[in-house]
Amino acid sequence: MDGEVTITVRPNGPYRIQGPITLIDADGNPLAVDSDMVFLCRCGGSSTKPFCDGTHKRAQWNAASGAGAYGVRPVEEPRS
Ligand code: FES
Repeated sequence: MDGEVTITVRPNGPYRIQGPITLIDADGNPLAVDSDMVFLCRCGGSSTKPFCDGTHKRAQWNAASGAGAYGVRPVEEPRS
């Protein structure tokens, strides 16, 4: 998995980004990311955007899931 970036859509939760990434804010400034794993808000409720702060759980946010919900088909077997 060296050098590979994986983005996982978490069920009713954030995007989990794994791998060596550079995260750039809306002004073009790099944000400090101290880990090879970050969680980015997908629900829109986080007070620490772009990061997930757990608000999706408190709000019981419910999202569409699965490739069919996005109008695409899987390209390979799902990863664990
Ligand atoms: S997805 Fe977690 S706060 Fe939005």
